[in-house]
Amino acid sequence: MDILKVSKLNKIYPGKVAYEALSNIDMTISKGEFVGIMGPSGSGKTTLLNLVSTIDSPSSGEIWIQGENPHRLSAEKLAFFRRRELGFVFQSFNLLHTLTVKENIILPLTLDGKDIKEMNRRVEAIAEKLGIVPILNKRTYEISGGQAQRTAIARALIHSPKLVLADEPTGNLDSKSARDVMELLAKLNREEDATMMLVTHDAMAASYCDRVIFIKDGQLYNEIHRGDNRSSFYQKIMNVLSLLGGNGHELPTIRV
Ligand SMILES: Nc1ncnc2c1ncn2[C@@H]1O[C@H](COP(=O)(O)OP(=O)(O)O)[C@@H](O)[C@H]1O
Ligand SMILES: [Mg+2]
Repeated sequence: MDILKVSKLNKIYPGKVAYEALSNIDMTISKGEFVGIMGPSGSGKTTLLNLVSTIDSPSSGEIWIQGENPHRLSAEKLAFFRRRELGFVFQSFNLLHTLTVKENIILPLTLDGKDIKEMNRRVEAIAEKLGIVPILNKRTYEISGGQAQRTAIARALIHSPKLVLADEPTGNLDSKSARDVMELLAKLNREEDATMMLVTHDAMAASYCDRVIFIKDGQLYNEIHRGDNRSSFYQKIMNVLSLLGGNGHELPTIRV
């Protein structure tokens, strides 16, 4: 079953000189898949994620998330749809600093009016999986970057969203924490059957995906599948990236 289907997607940013950031993108993501999106700086990765997450609207083409086109919903229904069906993980964690770790994780459930017992049960289960039980009552300024990202992942997954969207989730982490976060995302993908779409320019992070789609100049360029060997997948990703070229500073540092 397709969780995400993108069809003939175009995005043109208007301006003195209109800029076509995405052209004619077709892709699908099946239930339970973990898909990475890679490409040089400026290739349209964030634009694509913003269209899928409904932060921005396409110029033409369609996006379906489990059979529903969110861009056709009213503003009120769209807000509900995003909260219910999507989970977000950002490079900058986006935690609320006046709240504890636990309160941050529970926030999406609070908004949905879930009862307290059910909320506590879910927080405990997800915190256990992410190894953050000992920090649940800490404030966000008392925890490390890796712990902050694990908290953000717990928050993104607590309501069992249909699709988890992550934009450079390892971008602010040291390589050890980045690896831990990727291992946890891969584990949640397997154990919770969470469908994930991850935008990254980090080949190490992408090597945890089942499949990586490359875009260049707003167009699909290539896609590769992992198979069972992560380190040979990493090498394949590096090979495609070197063919793709792009800005040196966005090319990943070696960290296998
Ligand atoms: N709001 C915007 N207005 C005009 N151009 C934009 C806007 N956002 C992105 N772009 C342009 O669209 C292209 C793709 O950007 P983006 O999706 O952010 O790329 P990536 O995430 O792959 O680095 C870039 O050339 C960028 O300058
Ligand atoms: Mg980007």
